[in-house]
Amino acid sequence: MGAWNRPLAALYPSLATALGPLELASLPTPVQALTRLGLPGLYVKRDDLSSALYGGNKVRKLEFLLGAARASGARTVLTMGGAGSNHLLATALHGLGLGLRTAGVIFPQPDSPAVRRQRCAYRGAGVELLPTPSKYLLPASVLAALVRLRLREGRFPALVPGGGSSPLGCLGFVNAGLELAEQVRARALPEPAAVFVPYGTGGTAVGLALGLRLGELGTRVVAVRVIDRLVANRPRLELLAWSLGRLIRRHAPGARLPRELLGNLEIRQGQLGAGYGHPTPQGEAAQAAFSEAGLRLELTYTAKAAAAFLEEARRGAGPLLFWLTYSSADIDRWVTGGGGDA
Ligand SMILES: Cc1ncc(COP(=O)(O)O)c(C=O)c1O
Repeated sequence: MGAWNRPLAALYPSLATALGPLELASLPTPVQALTRLGLPGLYVKRDDLSSALYGGNKVRKLEFLLGAARASGARTVLTMGGAGSNHLLATALHGLGLGLRTAGVIFPQPDSPAVRRQRCAYRGAGVELLPTPSKYLLPASVLAALVRLRLREGRFPALVPGGGSSPLGCLGFVNAGLELAEQVRARALPEPAAVFVPYGTGGTAVGLALGLRLGELGTRVVAVRVIDRLVANRPRLELLAWSLGRLIRRHAPGARLPRELLGNLEIRQGQLGAGYGHPTPQGEAAQAAFSEAGLRLELTYTAKAAAAFLEEARRGAGPLLFWLTYSSADIDRWVTGGGGDA
């Protein structure tokens, strides 16, 4: 695999050299005007197209995370997420190409055809599923899985956090912010007043907020919360941003970072509904509207973020950018067996 030829490497060459990310994604992803929603000044960043194997937001983080896993000599990657986790599938599919197996600790989420389909795809991709009864038991279950894999394989697996949201994973979205800044400079779109993203584990929003500032855009990041407050809250985002800043400074000593790292990030409440993975009427309406525009959303993350985006658009504050974080790659060939009731 060749050198990592991305805007972040141009800004901080020493960081890219030290951390050895891989080129797994097809970047830059295109930006398009969203004219078919019938409201002015709306744009979409097509991260759904970030990889023909499996796109969406995760592949940007995996460029760093799987680069580190491979460099560590691990044979297996251990990660975690909800029963229908896109992150788990993305890790497994991109890991396969690098000769890495994936094991996933999964917690229950509301059942749906999409979740069942995802479970089939895990099987097709050879994921070892390690179910835990509740997301609050994740730390204990992950620890148990680490020990089990160590005993079985004679070495620890590479540990990738839920959603890929470690400081290392966030770097993929710092790069994404710089990428958008280049697209604004190239007049692919006007400078957005705000960019809307779903907020699950927060790596997307935190990395993007910093990347936009480093790219000298005044754009706000609106992080639409789709999981409960115990998991998604401002102190956790601040801690992640602080650790990200420390990682950058360690590998790019001259880096000039904003004093208030998340000064341009707002957490948007009001779209969670009954909880993580529970559909909402506003989300379903947004899904239908985007579908008319030829864009596919799912109901756990992107539809809820799109509902907040449309609400803001109706208030007339533009230009606004919707960051489409859900892969549109065809996963049919991984969906084997057709059951999904493991
Ligand atoms: C489609 C989709 N969008 C957004 C997110 C949230 O991103 P983050 O966990 O970085 O907040 C996820 C996370 O799993 C996702 O699968």
